[in-house]
Amino acid sequence: MSGVPSHDAVPAVDARPRRLPPGPSRAMTAQLLSRMARDRLAVMSSVAAAYGDAVRLPLGPKTLFFFNHPDHAKHVLTDNHANYHKGIGLVHARRALGDGLLTSEGELWRSQRKTIQPVFQAKRIARQAGVIAEEAAKLVARLRAREAGGVLVDVREAMTGLTLGVLGRTLLDADLDAFDSIGESFEAVQNQAIFEMMSLSTVPAWLPLARQRRFRRARADLDHIVAHLAAERAAHPSEDGDDVLSRLIESTRREKDPATGRRRMRDELVTLLLAGHETTASTLSWAFHLLDEHPLVQERVREEAVEVLGDRSPTMEDLHRLRYTTMVIEEVMRLYPPVWILPRAARESDEIGGFRVPAGADVLICPYTLHRHPAFWDAPDRFDPERFAPDRAAGRHRYAYVPFGAGPRFCIGNSLGMLEATVVLATVVRELRLTKAPGYPVRPEPMLTLRVRGGLPMTVHSIV
Ligand code: HEM
Repeated sequence: MSGVPSHDAVPAVDARPRRLPPGPSRAMTAQLLSRMARDRLAVMSSVAAAYGDAVRLPLGPKTLFFFNHPDHAKHVLTDNHANYHKGIGLVHARRALGDGLLTSEGELWRSQRKTIQPVFQAKRIARQAGVIAEEAAKLVARLRAREAGGVLVDVREAMTGLTLGVLGRTLLDADLDAFDSIGESFEAVQNQAIFEMMSLSTVPAWLPLARQRRFRRARADLDHIVAHLAAERAAHPSEDGDDVLSRLIESTRREKDPATGRRRMRDELVTLLLAGHETTASTLSWAFHLLDEHPLVQERVREEAVEVLGDRSPTMEDLHRLRYTTMVIEEVMRLYPPVWILPRAARESDEIGGFRVPAGADVLICPYTLHRHPAFWDAPDRFDPERFAPDRAAGRHRYAYVPFGAGPRFCIGNSLGMLEATVVLATVVRELRLTKAPGYPVRPEPMLTLRVRGGLPMTVHSIV
């Protein structure tokens, strides 16, 4: 007889762990919930510090499973991604965003990604460097105009305008400056999405709340803008047909029901514009705040910009040479990852880090806490761009740093976001110094993205 045990002789044993992760009691979590409304980041950080890398949080009718080890992030986002679909917040955000690439699942997601992916190919993005440089130069001119008299500039607002303009030109080949209301409408849609995410429920659309009225108006406004852009492009096709609008027109034309085609077009464009402008605008706002706090770092960025660019506009080739500026952007996104939380829901039961995750469980991966995990980062709260120098970054767990997510749902716009943030930071810092206005504390506000709460008023000074 061989030494291999017979399956008949050994009774089947369920090898899956029975243990659920530790966590606060329901009563303690109720207290946390009220704190959570005020400071979600502090709650996530303190829960991770108190209970470790796997935490169970019974929140109201739900139990959240919060995993905070890079191995856990790898498991959920990549190794076993098929078991996880987009979770709580994003499901509720669907009423605001529709079924665009960020919130869709399965076959619909696959076909959307296939339609849009070519627009984001590195070669095509590289061709956009000139457009981004032009928009950055216009921004510098606008900021300079505010220098005289020490007028305060809301840098968050300025970055939002800039990134919307860049997206319009790079993705849609369209000028969004013509639509005055677009920034405000995105703000209202975002407020509604975040409200539904945080209340863990969908508020009936007919309730006559002021926020809902603003949301309905904003949605109608965005529908109108998107329909206008699509009609314009259909009437005047672009030369190479490789922008997002042209591709979407082509793919939604194949839809049997024209109303479905129109809705798909709208969902996709609103999603891309929202996902693409807020994230990069937040990164740049935090970058200007951190450079103001760290003048020596700011000086190095300026020296590099002068050395690499002289007084000409940046091109794609310069990106590799703006190495220190890139490290600064990477460090900014470590401390303030624009997408601070990645919510997922388990389809089937699973095991993560030796703990049981029941089918249907809400699972959270939090880039904000991962990026400050003390086992993977020295002095995690310190701003230190040198962490991203090749010798110090070598050997670091790849999933300790996930500003663009990971796995199949990895950010489609990551090259565009990095190119834009680097080019804009180098261009502005080469010519201007932005300093924070006294009396305006700078605090993070975790909305759909991690924003600077209440804006970022700064004064502008030319470098002579
Ligand atoms: C600094 C800039 C950016 C950051 C930090 C960022 C971050 C992220 C992250 C973390 C995800 C994954 C979300 C998840 O797994 O649930 C994501 C997805 C996405 N991002 Fe970005 N993003 C940035 C810029 C952009 C830009 C410029 C665009 C372009 C329009 C864009 C469009 C998208 C889209 C459409 C998705 C969904 C992809 C999919 O599920 O297939 N992002 N982004």
